[in-house]
Amino acid sequence: MRINKFIAQSGLCSRRKADEYVLNGNVKVNGLVMREPGYDVAGDDRVEVNGRQVLADEKPVYYLLNKPVGYITTMNDEQGRPSVSDLLGDIEERVFPVGRLDGNTSGALILTNDGHIAYRISHPSKLVYKTYRAMVKGVVSREKEARLRKGVDIGGYITRPAKVNVLEQRPGSAVVEISITEGRYHQVKKMFKAVGCPVQTLERISVGEIRLGRLKTGTFRKLTAKELEWLKSL
Ligand code: URA
Repeated sequence: MRINKFIAQSGLCSRRKADEYVLNGNVKVNGLVMREPGYDVAGDDRVEVNGRQVLADEKPVYYLLNKPVGYITTMNDEQGRPSVSDLLGDIEERVFPVGRLDGNTSGALILTNDGHIAYRISHPSKLVYKTYRAMVKGVVSREKEARLRKGVDIGGYITRPAKVNVLEQRPGSAVVEISITEGRYHQVKKMFKAVGCPVQTLERISVGEIRLGRLKTGTFRKLTAKELEWLKSL
């Protein structure tokens, strides 16, 4: 089995990420650095990624975490900052976050050891809407709403069509729900900035059919059978 597939099937990360690990020299086979993405793992090979042995075929698991503000979306931060792994106490499997939320963004974050699902949720071609509730500065006029829906320039890139719903317009701020199918770096913040309404707080309330609901901040739950069915249909 190709080494990227072996690593992805172990649940550590996606195949693409596994290739990156290989090319960056983070992978060892039988104690020696292996930089060959096409390497075929033999049955008795010992594979290590970042010093940890990788065992193929862990049972797949799927969780939804309500990420609090102040936690970064990584499983181990080299600088020792609070990260989502600190919130996953008794999960034994080596899960990883699907996509990322900024440190100051809260809300729905899926964690799994299933590299295939991770790819499907994240790929724009799958048209999985990720919905955010944003508190923004200023007035989100009809005209701005229409621009956000159609696509705005966020620094050389025009965003894909979005769903936008202004829930509340207050004197100097608004609460807006926005659903996007992409996940570019700081995308929602850049979109609102592009229409002159900078984001003050941002929470992701759903990823496709998986909704945060009443899940308490800082806690996680297993995905339900229905949610899993939806995920697997992607
Ligand atoms: N868009 C952002 O700007 N930040 C996030 O965390 C997610 C989407």
